Amino acid sequence: MLIDLEQQPADALLALIKLHNADPRADKIDLGVGVYRTGQGETPVFGAIKAAEKKLVETQDSKAYLGPEGDMGFVEALMPYVFGKDSPTMGGRIEGMQTPGGTGSLRLALAMVKRAGYKRLIVGKPSWPNHNQICADLGLEVLEFNHAKADGTTDMDALRAALANADASDAVLLHGCCHNPTGIDYSKAEWDEIAGLLAERKVLPVIDLAYQGLGRGMEEDAYGVRRVMVAVPEALVCYSCDKNFGLYRDRVGALYAMVADPADLTKVMSNAHALARANWSQPPDHGGAAVRLILEDEALTAQWLDELDQMRERMRQVRAKLAEAGKTGGVDLTAIGIQNGLFSIIPFTPEQVQAMRSEHGIYFAGSGRINVAGLTMGNIDKFIAAVAAVTG
Ligand code: LMR
Repeated sequence: MLIDLEQQPADALLALIKLHNADPRADKIDLGVGVYRTGQGETPVFGAIKAAEKKLVETQDSKAYLGPEGDMGFVEALMPYVFGKDSPTMGGRIEGMQTPGGTGSLRLALAMVKRAGYKRLIVGKPSWPNHNQICADLGLEVLEFNHAKADGTTDMDALRAALANADASDAVLLHGCCHNPTGIDYSKAEWDEIAGLLAERKVLPVIDLAYQGLGRGMEEDAYGVRRVMVAVPEALVCYSCDKNFGLYRDRVGALYAMVADPADLTKVMSNAHALARANWSQPPDHGGAAVRLILEDEALTAQWLDELDQMRERMRQVRAKLAEAGKTGGVDLTAIGIQNGLFSIIPFTPEQVQAMRSEHGIYFAGSGRINVAGLTMGNIDKFIAAVAAVTG
């Protein structure tokens, strides 16, 4: 019976939105769920998206179904950005489909991993909590390795050991850039080594690329994906436009599969299509169509890239200011200055996380993950003082 179901806790990250909203303090700070915020604390719709949506309303003449793969114009227009302008399909070896956000893409990718008979998914720890939730729901065994060391650099030894003990029955989930939750990314040299190890151990890479353009730049953030793709015969890439086009609630993502022989693509993708049909049938169209209209138009593309540059620049400034203000405030946040993307981790105890909420009105994940975009030049000092007070 339905009443035999057990009560589930609310998703801890999404629950933070409500907790913060319910706090009446005017100077409260939301460093919870991963949305970009301006220096005024707002999450506006991109100007390029507004223009594309206007165009969409004026020109779209039907809302009839497109099929489980969604808008293939959108899927293909993104490929040069992800895989490079020179060989966006790697000689016909890559095909994609539209998905509801990055989560939809991950859900399909991991269901394909399971369906293809892989035994384990190797995942860094910590990772975005939804990675493990999806694996648990699919019954996919997870093997964890330590992602980062206490000094704020990647733990390559742990990854090397995990891959040394892996074989062709394993897949590994890697964050393409802007690691969530640590902000600690692999260097180019580390990606070069990882690509070689994946090829040697015959482990299937599943790369989650949800923050392209928010780290070092659109090209720079694709280095790892591209490096791995040239080294291995097969790979899955899960892409999200939710952050780099600011489309969060519109749920815009894509799944790409690469195989060794283009002749096998249709068969492989037919599984992704069937899984999509069984899950959501077809992805929502609106956001993907808006992205396509941007990418088909040179002026809109330039406007979008400019808006993305401004976001990235602001996050760099916040990170630099945090590191600097930390020094004067007696809190060591040096590593945050060099990390990438929206997130970094401060090693708070659970009690300190609660104290930051209750005593200072500052909300972030229980893991100590902060969304640096929630900080502004106006509230960084308050944040530092609160950190010093609860950790001192
Ligand atoms: C986050 O990690 O905060 C974002 O990816 C949003 C989400 O869905 O969890």
